[in-house]
Amino acid sequence: MFVTSEAAPYAKTGGLADVCSALPKTLAKNNSVKVVMPLYSSIDVVKYGITEYMHGCCVHMGNCEEFYSLYHAKDSGVDFYFIKFDKYFDRDGIYDTKAGEYADNPYRFSFLSKAAFQVAKDIEFVPDVMHANDWQTALVPYYLSKGWDPYFVNTSSVLTIHNIGFQGVFATDFLEYAAIDPADMHQWAFESFGAVNLLKGGIAFANKITTVSPKYAEEIKGPIGSSGLHEILNRRAADLSGILNGIDTDVWNPSKDSYIPHKFSVKNLAGKKKNKLALQKKLGLTENADIALFGFVGRFADQKGLYLIQGAIERAMNEMACQFVVVGTGDQKYEEYFGGLADRFPGEFGSFIGYSEELAHLVEAGSDFFLMPSLYEPCGLNQMYSLAYGTLPVVRATGGLDDTVENYDESTAEGTGFKFYAISSNALFDTIGWAVSTYYDRPKHYAKMQQTAMLKDFSWSSSAAAYEELYREILKDRPDIFI
Ligand code: ADP
Ligand code: GLC
Repeated sequence: MFVTSEAAPYAKTGGLADVCSALPKTLAKNNSVKVVMPLYSSIDVVKYGITEYMHGCCVHMGNCEEFYSLYHAKDSGVDFYFIKFDKYFDRDGIYDTKAGEYADNPYRFSFLSKAAFQVAKDIEFVPDVMHANDWQTALVPYYLSKGWDPYFVNTSSVLTIHNIGFQGVFATDFLEYAAIDPADMHQWAFESFGAVNLLKGGIAFANKITTVSPKYAEEIKGPIGSSGLHEILNRRAADLSGILNGIDTDVWNPSKDSYIPHKFSVKNLAGKKKNKLALQKKLGLTENADIALFGFVGRFADQKGLYLIQGAIERAMNEMACQFVVVGTGDQKYEEYFGGLADRFPGEFGSFIGYSEELAHLVEAGSDFFLMPSLYEPCGLNQMYSLAYGTLPVVRATGGLDDTVENYDESTAEGTGFKFYAISSNALFDTIGWAVSTYYDRPKHYAKMQQTAMLKDFSWSSSAAAYEELYREILKDRPDIFI
């Protein structure tokens, strides 16, 4: 049973949603898999065929009973259960609005985590594993470890860290509501400089902890990579592993992508050029199939290295024959900058400030290169989408970017992308220059890399098998279970 605050296509702010949809669907080929998440009012119940399953459900929180309804949809063999509780989930945003984070987030997500246990009982499902994701559901392993309910005596927990930059740190006022024992407010559990750190508590109590790439699993053992959680992660190192995310090859597949006007494949790339022209037209660029085009899609957050892009692309457009497109939303300073840049570089720069699934696909399909200069990147999905679409990634060698992109070797034309190491706009500028010169001066190398990239297998099958192996490992500790 997955417990998550987002899952695609119902509610998504980033890669967490993709993973909490594609991984359960892959696991469902061999297992019975349920996903529990909130029914945010933004979820279109009609479009997704979500129907009421049960009402009058109740979970005890602090000194009150919270009553909610349960909704359900079946998708690709997975049962998705949605908790309809308007007090917490009938809002404009998922976690926040432009005005900031919802002040009651610790209440909202401790409710979700506790209600998941009630959902299991109400649907009469005894999970072997409850799989929690990020700080929002990090209380699931804690509740399980308390052994409050014999119904879950055979259930183990896994906590996956998708992004350690978000830890769910809050004042202590919700402890009683969330049933966190004040005795667990110590250095090796929830306590963090006097506040409650939900992710830290999850790390302390989960049977196994995973993160979304092997490299990131190493990075988060250090003080910088862990944003301060390295001590507890080192203490739990024997139970920590990195399993690379996969991509949903039904959704991200250039030969059957319903969002792109021209389908293409590694055997026939003609459609890719046509998508490039369509993308140029859509975002107001000069239509030219032969100019090097770089794309970016992502959250406008410092994590994504946007200030490195700011420091590099104007110079690149001034000094080289290249174009840039940027699709994203988030931090206002970046929205203003990228929203206004087209005025200064007409025909060379185009942007869409907002969230658009369709444009995200078109940028992957129509660009020649994809920019991902992240300061840190637990896994990153866009670079894998790029590889599948023959769009060579330009990445900083960190976390999952380092694990999934192979650097270009000019002597052999091997590799799938272009890497740089320093957190510096100059390093990014130089690497953009390297990509541009490869595109114009060594087109055979570019074509070979494109072929290599498109033939890589980033489907979920091997990663899902790694999760199954991990689940089996925790079940092995249980003599009562026959595997
Ligand atoms: P993160 O989870 O840190 O945001 P990932 O690369 O793992 O980064 O996943 C980001 C996901 O969100 C991708 O599926 C990407 O296409 C999508 N995405 C991000 N911003 C936008 C946007 N503005 N419009 C459409 N899709 C977006
Ligand atoms: C996070 C990370 C991203 C990862 C995604 C899914 O949001 O920032 O790198 O791919 O989660 O695991």
